[in-house]
Amino acid sequence: MIVFRKKDELNARISSLKEENTTVGFVPTMGALHQGHLSLVEEALANNNLVVVSIFVNPTQFDNSEDLKKYPRNLQQDVDLLNTLSDKIIVYAPTVEDIYEGETKSRKFNFDGLEHQMEGKFRDGHFDGVGTIVKLLFDIVKPNNAYFGEKDFQQLAIIKKLVSKYNIPVNIVGCKIKRDANGLALSSRNTRLKPEHKVVAPFIYKTLKAAKEKFGTKSANKVVEWVENQFANHELLELEYFTIADEATLKTVKRKSKNKQYRAFIAVYAGKIRLIDNIALN
Ligand code: PAJ
Repeated sequence: MIVFRKKDELNARISSLKEENTTVGFVPTMGALHQGHLSLVEEALANNNLVVVSIFVNPTQFDNSEDLKKYPRNLQQDVDLLNTLSDKIIVYAPTVEDIYEGETKSRKFNFDGLEHQMEGKFRDGHFDGVGTIVKLLFDIVKPNNAYFGEKDFQQLAIIKKLVSKYNIPVNIVGCKIKRDANGLALSSRNTRLKPEHKVVAPFIYKTLKAAKEKFGTKSANKVVEWVENQFANHELLELEYFTIADEATLKTVKRKSKNKQYRAFIAVYAGKIRLIDNIALN
């Protein structure tokens, strides 16, 4: 498998492989690939003739320089993993210079308010960074279909908004969250958890499932209160936020109404590692 470091070389390769009816699937990632990423790649392989996987730790979406520095990077291992899946995969692992061409800066986006909720409140400039890199990548790869995980549900909603606002001709496909057998949502950051945090981290999904159960009979506020209490005295996990939101607007729900889809979102610190997760409530 050839790893392209330059967009011009990637484009030349895609053009030479593209026949009349070739559909290109695209899976953008930051590497340190796990089964969650691979499930996106598999879905892309099942529905496209050619799949491009980008591996790029995007500096503009990190609000915490320590997190950026420590983000796991293992390109060779990632390439080996992808090699086991198919020979229809092309890897694009650009350098910062190749993709940002000198100015490593975010554009400013208006995602109609989606960007101000949850992650947007706690990670300054994060979605401007995500929007910037994903738009650059779409312009380079020009995929027919692009695959994003519900693990980052707010990001998925924002990418859908980006595509509709900028009339980018790509179909966005949302993919289910992959979990460990113990319920913990797979994440590249899990490899950085200390052993004692690894043991308690499944508590996050356990609590989400219990919250879903309670949401059947209790008000959103009562469920939020209950979850906050679960974490209040936890020795190793620190709750940053727990929110129940309308899936369409991502706005916090005060009073439930019928015909709407609700989802619970959570961010938790396990030591220095920040974990996020979410669950559909109805
Ligand atoms: P990264 O965190 O590497 O995730 C790449 C894709 O994999 C995202 O769409 C994410 O939602 C999905 N993913 C991660 N863990 C998953 C899991 N457990 N189950 C299902 N899907 C999962 O998200 C990013 O990178 C970046 O923000 C990116 C979009 C690449 C822009 O830099």
